[in-house]
Amino acid sequence: MAGNRMICTTNQVEYLTIRRAMVAGARTFEETQAATGVCGVCEGCKSELDGILLSVCGCMKVSLQAVVDAVKSGADTVEKVGELTGAGTDCGRCKGLIANIIELGY
Ligand code: FES
Ligand code: FES
Repeated sequence: MAGNRMICTTNQVEYLTIRRAMVAGARTFEETQAATGVCGVCEGCKSELDGILLSVCGCMKVSLQAVVDAVKSGADTVEKVGELTGAGTDCGRCKGLIANIIELGY
């Protein structure tokens, strides 16, 4: 997973703040904006944010869709999602997000 960095410079919203919002259930731009205050004014940050929202595990390059598909096909623990997709099997920092995806189902 990439280290922390500023995503929205206007409102000083960092990458890890966005990740924390995702762990708390934010999945869309609007939900992330409500949770973090990201301003959404510039297209550069917006497309970066879209990329963050689509990705779960930076180490193993696993998308949100791949994790959701694994959960739908019966992976009901973080370990099972890891077996199916590889997500969470390296640094482990995405495990909280995987657990939230299992909990919400999306
Ligand atoms: S500075 Fe806020 S979205 Fe670009
Ligand atoms: S981000 Fe490192 S294992 Fe997923």
